Amino acid sequence: MILVTGGAGYIGSHTLLSLADAGYESVTLDNLCYGHREAVLEGHFVQADLADNFALDRLFETFPIEAVIHFAAFCYVGESMEAPEKYFSNNLVNGLNLLNAMLKAGVEKIIFSSSCAVYGDPSVIPIPETHAKSPINPYGLTKHFYEEILSSYETAHGIKHVSLRYFNAAGADPKGRIGESHDPETHLIPLVLQAALGRRSEIEIFGTNYPTSDGTCIRDYIHVCDLAEAHVSALTYLLSGGQSISLNLGTGKGYSVREVFERCQKICQLSIPYRDVGPRPGDPPELVASGDKAREILDWNPRYSVDEIISTAWNWHQNQKF
Ligand code: UFG
Repeated sequence: MILVTGGAGYIGSHTLLSLADAGYESVTLDNLCYGHREAVLEGHFVQADLADNFALDRLFETFPIEAVIHFAAFCYVGESMEAPEKYFSNNLVNGLNLLNAMLKAGVEKIIFSSSCAVYGDPSVIPIPETHAKSPINPYGLTKHFYEEILSSYETAHGIKHVSLRYFNAAGADPKGRIGESHDPETHLIPLVLQAALGRRSEIEIFGTNYPTSDGTCIRDYIHVCDLAEAHVSALTYLLSGGQSISLNLGTGKGYSVREVFERCQKICQLSIPYRDVGPRPGDPPELVASGDKAREILDWNPRYSVDEIISTAWNWHQNQKF
């Protein structure tokens, strides 16, 4: 049985489907503060908070948990600048509760949702895992610190971990069962698609004078189902005795905001209202993964193109269920 914290969230819920396809049983722990109960289509479900040590202990007593996939965390970069306490409390203090409950229960394997935000404003593109970690916001700091905490727990207690540093997660289940549903939504592709559907009046393009080919920021968009598959591969790797490791999850290909916007217009066959505005504070010009290590260690290859990312997301947003 695999414990999935935050399994009712965007990447967690897609991972539940991949786990089930691979024959793994799961139990989701989610406080439903941002997650959706309707997104949990596989496995057991327990509504509880990582701050609740009693609930955590009971969970480990009730289910024969052999490994943990830890998604539960706050993930808004902008909010983390305004309310860092919220991020340190949930992402670090509550994350420590999870590790301590694992220790008590003798569970020694964890896969952690990390982020390209650990690199801050990178000096090399594509970014290798060995690049310096200099987060530029509290959200990125929590991801970096938690990776460090995992290393200390390995040294002291033998807990093995895989930290997966996601680049820009996007797209939806190709069967349309689940997809991205954040409130508030801050990510580019869902915002553009909501504007296409008239659910918002326009999309703002943040910054047009970056040192990139068309002046807008470049990101490495990775399909959420490819991310989900990587978690299953990382789990199989750890369960078969793999060593602790941190891996980038991206495609290695970057697309500018303008390119993504234009591809969205083409796929939706609509003219989407937009406005060029100033840059969003804290946005690095370019984030593209060097993805060789994940391919080599996990034998993982992203399958979805950027157009498939947009078209699966478009399908979801047109028929959004929650
Ligand atoms: N963007 C716009 N308009 C919008 C929203 C976004 O132009 O309305 C631009 C952003 O400026 C950025 C790109 O679109 O250049 C992608 O923005 P997202 O908000 O979709 O994603 P980010 O690259 O900001 O965030 C991602 C992950 C975070 C991670 C961060 C690291 O989602 O978890 O990279 O910088 F922390």
